[in-house]
Parts: sequence; structure tokens; C-alpha cells
Amino acid sequence: MIDISTKIAGVKLDGCVFNASGVRDETLLDLENLAKSKSCAVLMKSCTLAPRKGNPAPRCVNLKYGSINSMGLPNLGYRAYIKFSKILEEKYQKPLIASICGLSPKDNIIMFKAFNDTPVDLIEFNPGSPNTIGKPIVGYDFEEMDRLLDSVSKVTKKPFGVKLPPYFDLTHFEQMANIIKKYPVKFVTCVNSIGNGLAINPQTEKVLIKPKGGLGGIAGGYIKYTALANVRMFYQLLADKIQVIGVGGVYSGIDAFEMILAGASAVQIGTAFLQKGPGIFARVQNQLSNFMKKKGYQNLADFRGKLNTLD
Ligand code: DHB
Repeated sequence: MIDISTKIAGVKLDGCVFNASGVRDETLLDLENLAKSKSCAVLMKSCTLAPRKGNPAPRCVNLKYGSINSMGLPNLGYRAYIKFSKILEEKYQKPLIASICGLSPKDNIIMFKAFNDTPVDLIEFNPGSPNTIGKPIVGYDFEEMDRLLDSVSKVTKKPFGVKLPPYFDLTHFEQMANIIKKYPVKFVTCVNSIGNGLAINPQTEKVLIKPKGGLGGIAGGYIKYTALANVRMFYQLLADKIQVIGVGGVYSGIDAFEMILAGASAVQIGTAFLQKGPGIFARVQNQLSNFMKKKGYQNLADFRGKLNTLD
């Protein structure tokens, strides 16, 4: 029997694949659909203090090998997700993960405190959406990230991790890993979308999405190799003491296998869930099990992080 279960921050997951935050996870109906699917956790939409409508549509468009979005953090406000967590916990036996994306340091503290008294198992801290107009991507501001992790670490009682933007420079991996190691961060989720890409329709000679003159986060197949590099670098720099969750361009069990081989302890699916629906979770996990069986691997520990180089 192949075992693809995993643990994140001590929380047992029945499999190793679940939804990425931001795709079909805004409403209670969305979250119940995830709870009923084979996603092995329910990760909620990044929340802010107050509800937000987000950016004007069209704001998310499928591309040949992925997607572009500039949603602008549409969400029902953190109080709604606290309420939903209580409903979900009563009805379903599935780990619940909140995603917190405050628009200010103070907002993050308020929300982290509020989630202390909820059934949420884990918190994924998303410090700065690439699509919030007028707000920087905090993951690229190392000093701000340090201050934010310091302040939320002081108030949270939940195990928490950090969703990181993709890095492209070796010194940035090191700098961010050194900051993260200072705090009781249990996991990093690599990677958020590649911010501010531009998709164009050559027929109409127009951009594809309305916000920000057409600029938006690139996700899906286009970012798989960037995601793998980020998973690998943080797996090595955090020395497997802080776990890595891989996300970016996972459509198949072999994509998930590659993430785990690079060091991921679990894998999230965003664009493929958006494009293919909730059946993707069972498909990817079945394909992963079959591939492991062919290779003679019984569980994730048999190959996780054991990527070989050519020297
Ligand atoms: C949004 C996009 C992100 O990539 C993110 O991390 C948070 C929010 C958004 O546009 O809603």
C-alpha cells in the first residue's frame, strides 16, 4: 500500500495535495466543495480586516499554459472566515488553514489574535498580495518582512507559515531564509504568482485583464520551474527544520513528485484547480501513488528532498 500522507507543523494530512489559496475558496459554498473533495486540507482565501470586492473584471483569465490574475483580494473579511471555520470543523474532518493578508501591520496583528480562538489548524501568512493597488509585495521588502514576522510571532498561538513570492537571485533566497529562521515559522509556501506579467490579445490589440493596465500575477505551467527552484533553495537553506510547501504549475502526479523530490512536504494546486475543477485533487494524488509504486517508493520520506545533481 502506497502512503502519500504527510504532516505539516504536526498536523496530519491524509494525502499531500490541497488547494492553493485564492482559487474557489472565497465563499462557504466554495469551502464546503473543497471539504467534500479529495483536497487533503481546506485552505481559505486570503482575508483582510474588512470585506473587499476586489478589482474590476475581467480580472482572471486562462492562458494556454497557465493563467493571469489581478483579483485585488476579494474576500468576505476575516470575521466571515472565522465563522466558516467553525461550521467546517463541525461538518467535516479535514484540516483547516486560514490565510491572512492584512493591509497594514496592525491589521495582521488583529487577525492573528482573532484566529487564536478558532478551530483553524494552521495559518498561512500571506504578507502582501502582488495585486493590491498601491501596496508593495512585502516578500521583496526584507526589513518589512522581518518586522511583520516579529510582530505576528508575538501574538499567534497557532502554528503558522509564510507564503513567499518567487525569488530569482541567490542572495535573496539566503536573506529571506535567514529572516525566517529567526522566528517560530513552521513552513514556507513557495511560490506565489510571478507578479506583474502582461498578457496580450494580438487580434484586438488589447490586454487581457482590466486592472493595472493589464498587469497581473502569472501562475500555472509558466511558473513551474521557478517554483521548483524556490522549493529546492528553501528546503536546503532551512535545512528541513522549517517545512516547504510547493505550489506553482502542478497539473499531474509527476509534477507533484518533482516538487516533493525537490523538498516539498506537501503540494498545493491553484491554476489547475481553477481550470479542471475539484477532480484534480484525486487525479494528481492517484497519479503520484502510481508513479511511486512504479519506482518502488512506499511513502514520501523515501524520496522527499533526495534530488540528485549532475556532479
Ligand atoms: C491576490 C493575489 C495573490 O497572489 C495573493 O497572494 C493574494 C491576493 C489577489 O489578487 O486577490
